[in-house]
Order: sequence, then structure tokens, then C-alpha cells
Amino acid sequence: MFGLNIKISEKFSIDEHAVLFHGSCLDLLSDIPDKSMQLVVTSPPYNIGKEYEKKLKIEIYLKQQAEVIKECARVLSDTGSICWQVGNYVNKGTIIPIDTILYPIFHDLDLVMRNRIVWHFEHGLHCSRRFSGRYETIIWFTRKTKEYVFNLDPVRVPQKYPAKKYFKGPKAGQYSCNPLGKNPSDIWDIPNVKSNHVEKTEHPCQFPVELIERLVLSMTNDGDWVFDPFLGTGTSIIAAIRHNRRGAGAETEKKYVDISRDRIQKAINGTLRTRPMNKPKYDPESSNNKLTISPWDKKEEEFNQLRLLENQGEYHRENS
Ligand SMILES: C[S@@+](CC[C@H](N)C(=O)[O-])C[C@H]1O[C@@H](n2cnc3c(N)ncnc32)[C@H](O)[C@@H]1O
Repeated sequence: MFGLNIKISEKFSIDEHAVLFHGSCLDLLSDIPDKSMQLVVTSPPYNIGKEYEKKLKIEIYLKQQAEVIKECARVLSDTGSICWQVGNYVNKGTIIPIDTILYPIFHDLDLVMRNRIVWHFEHGLHCSRRFSGRYETIIWFTRKTKEYVFNLDPVRVPQKYPAKKYFKGPKAGQYSCNPLGKNPSDIWDIPNVKSNHVEKTEHPCQFPVELIERLVLSMTNDGDWVFDPFLGTGTSIIAAIRHNRRGAGAETEKKYVDISRDRIQKAINGTLRTRPMNKPKYDPESSNNKLTISPWDKKEEEFNQLRLLENQGEYHRENS
């Protein structure tokens, strides 16, 4: 661990450990040397009119994204990764999955896709004219090389049946699972940051730290740089610092820069509360949450009455 003496710098220098830039990402990018970032990870504005963005014509939005992505490709190391986390662009009730329209930009920069990760979560708007959206994606690109960094072991997850054994062949009787766990696959079931999430700030679209920790651990090594052009509340820098990496990012809105600084400092001090990686999801039924019992569903009541009748039969038999 770099330790408690990490300072949060406002300007980029390759010797720093945490860089929080208040301003546009293109200005910060202009100070970053070619091929110096091991992981670029971000969730850009989706152009849906959130408080921090102005809704643009989709062509203009794509042009702006292309400018930033081109710069991110310039600063990407030869073995590095770019992960763009996006949802849907929504216009008059129709949707465009943003990853589908951004893909050509990455492709034209000679980057290749390694995964399209589906991030599934449970909470969000309830739609009435289409099915409610409960996933977004992370599109992961590298250069055309076999040498890109991918460390699977630090991000393995427990198997469903770890005690399973080979039942025939030369290994019969031995455990068949990897004791370190299994590949987490390209579908990630991780709670999104809504009102009762421990990481919630006033930002409307934070991503959870555990989502980025998985990318940091698998796509970088100790001491590497992680860069987020649209930093929001500092999540990417926090995930980097927690795992002994360096983090840099830009944010235009002063109030989010202030939240970021506070959270990053707490991460450095070791006092930031986050949802731990791989913590099982809250299951209301097994936790006996009374709110899971529907006041409209009469089946339970009918079932209880049936049971009463059956017991009554037993009572009569016993007494006759
Ligand atoms: C979807 S949010 C990112 C949230 C972030 N992932 C987090 O966990 O907090 C996008 C952020 O980009 C910021 N932003 C918009 N345009 C920007 C630009 N040109 N440079 C830097 N930040 C920008 C917005 O203010 C907003 O906070």
C-alpha cells in the first residue's frame, strides 16, 4: 500500500498517486503522456438530460465522445484496457443502447473488444410502456495484442458446487473445481447505488466501487495508472488507491469534485465505507423481511384455513 501520505494533486504528473482535476477531461488528457495509462474506465454522460449534462443531438454527442475516446486511446499503454460503462440513450420513448453506437469509434481506432459485460441490478425506474431496464453494459477494449493484462485469480468468485469431484477418468475422486474459485463470467449481478446503498452521495449516477475494483484487479498490476475522464464522485480513483494503483480523473462540476476529494481522502485514510466485493446480495425472503408478504395475495390465507380444517379432522379422530 502506498500509505497514508498520498496527497491528492490537482495537476497531472506521472510521479503522483492521486490526481483530481477540476475541469474538462480533454484538458487533463492534454497533460497525460502517450501510452502511460494501464486502465481507462469510465461512465460518460448518457445524453439523457441529467442535471450535469445538456441534451445534445445524438450526432454531436457521438462527435464529443469520439474526441475523448481518441485521446484515451492515445494515452493507453500497449498492454492496457479501456472500459466504457454505458446504458441507453432514451428519446421520446425509444431507446438506443449507447454501446452499439460507440462501438464503431473504438473499432476505427484499431481497438478490439474482449468482452461486453452485462451489469445487472435490481433498482431503477418502473416503466409503463416498455419493460423496466435492469442492466447496463461495460464494453472492454484492448489493443490488437495477445499481451494485454488480464489477471483472473484476484477476481474469481466462489463456485456453486465447490465439493464436486471428477467421477471417472484418471482424476476420479479428486476435486474438479479450482480452489481459488471460478471465472465471474460476463454477467455481473452487483447492486447499483440507490438511496440505501452505503456509498450513496448526492450524485444521481454513481457506479459502485466493487464494480470498478473487479476491473482494476483484473486489468492492472501494482503501481499502474487508472484513468477516468468523467470522474463524478471519484469512484475509479478510490478503486485504484484501495488496491495500490494510481488514479487520475477529471470532473467539471465543482460539487462533485468536492465529494470526490472527500471520498478519495477517506479511501486513503482507510475510513471510506463501501460495499465489499463479492458480498452476497441481500435476500429479503431468507432475511424474513415482512414486506415480502403480499397483502393482496390470498393464497397464504386459504392455505392456513385448509391446514386448520385438516387439523380439525385429526382432533375429531383423536376424540372419537
Ligand atoms: C455518469 S457521471 C459519472 C459518475 C461516476 N462514474 C461516479 O461513480 O461517480 C458523468 C460525470 O461526467 C461529468 N462530466 C461531463 N462532461 C465532462 C467533461 N467534459 N469532463 C469531465 N467531466 C465531465 C459530469 O458532471 C458527471 O459527473
